Amino acid sequence: MTSNIQWHYPRLDTAESIIRLLSTGALQAITIFAPRNYGKTELVLEDIWPMAEQEGYFVLYSSFWLNKAKPESVFLDMIREPKQRLDFVKTRVGLPGNFVEAQAQPLSEPSDNPLSEIAKEFKKLINKHDRILLMLDEVQTLAKDEHVDFIACIRTLMNTHREQVQVVFTGSSREGLIKLFKKHKAPLFNAAHQYDLPNLDASFVQHQISAFQQASGRNINLAAAIRVFVRQNFVPAHFHDLLISMLISGEGDIEKAYSVYRENSMLSQAYIGAWTELSALARMALVWLANHGEGLYQEQAIQYFSEQMGIPVTTGMLQHQIDLLKENSIIESLSRGQYSFTEEGMRDFVLEQSQDGLLVK
Ligand SMILES: Nc1ncnc2c1ncn2[C@@H]1O[C@H](COP(=O)(O)OP(=O)(O)OP(=O)(O)O)[C@@H](O)[C@H]1O
Ligand SMILES: [Mg+2]
Repeated sequence: MTSNIQWHYPRLDTAESIIRLLSTGALQAITIFAPRNYGKTELVLEDIWPMAEQEGYFVLYSSFWLNKAKPESVFLDMIREPKQRLDFVKTRVGLPGNFVEAQAQPLSEPSDNPLSEIAKEFKKLINKHDRILLMLDEVQTLAKDEHVDFIACIRTLMNTHREQVQVVFTGSSREGLIKLFKKHKAPLFNAAHQYDLPNLDASFVQHQISAFQQASGRNINLAAAIRVFVRQNFVPAHFHDLLISMLISGEGDIEKAYSVYRENSMLSQAYIGAWTELSALARMALVWLANHGEGLYQEQAIQYFSEQMGIPVTTGMLQHQIDLLKENSIIESLSRGQYSFTEEGMRDFVLEQSQDGLLVK
């Protein structure tokens, strides 16, 4: 029966070291960083949650994707539930594959004064449980001015209950996390230590192809599977998707399946869609960034853009395109004037486009 197949690869060492850091009091809070689709939500739900319960924690989880505009009501829902059930939470956030996260509805009626409601409800929790672990997923969605009072409220709860409450944040935008935790004026300034989630390795690939073997009765060559996983920039979601496509198509050669998958997958379609929407100047800026990694505003770059466009390109014109690319989360800025791709896959895609000479079409 395929339903008993364990696709999840447990990251027990990672979970254990995070819990140890928190439970021994070395840290009150930790922020797990990894780009999108690298397995943060699976780690917190599948590995950290059960282990933390065994350690005696009362565990609470919420994902701010549930309602990006009203994170305080997401938080309130979380602390109002008498006891969250893991299976229910997984269904709500849509594991595996988290596309439903963004569409899910809040559980309860919105409150007129959610922050004072939070303070009241949190007091009840504190009186009931000796140790509480809050797991707050997708915290970068809070990095906006309008959420500053809510963030200050979280900080106050953390400060007031330093011994009793520990927090695991997760985030997928370096820029968002810098805004939240590294700016002096930010209410969460230095509130959490950042932990960069390491890439999954060959044992993950081995685990996944054994699951595939159980599901299909077919074997996949391990060395070839590892080569593909590296080419996918170690993104577990894309590797899993590829295996599912092989289950459906019956293809047994993973490298062949990968070349078909790259052409047709939703991900490639998403990159093509995003690329098609961009202006010629935005595309050139991306190509420059993919090839050089820096110097977007240097004389040499501006001159190149002007030559390619056939008109003088000003820094203002360029800045406007960069702002749009940032708004669309294609790139992010970690320090002034420095930009990087939010997804390695998009960077690879842009490199391919420039090699194909599609740059200024
Ligand atoms: N430990 C794992 N074992 C097996 N598959 C995994 C594991 N971690 C992640 N995956 C695969 O990757 C997919 C994405 O994982 P997950 O939703 O946890 O990523 P994420 O980092 O939370 O992404 P996002 O930032 O978009 O929320 C999962 O649905 C699953 O297919
Ligand atoms: Mg997630």
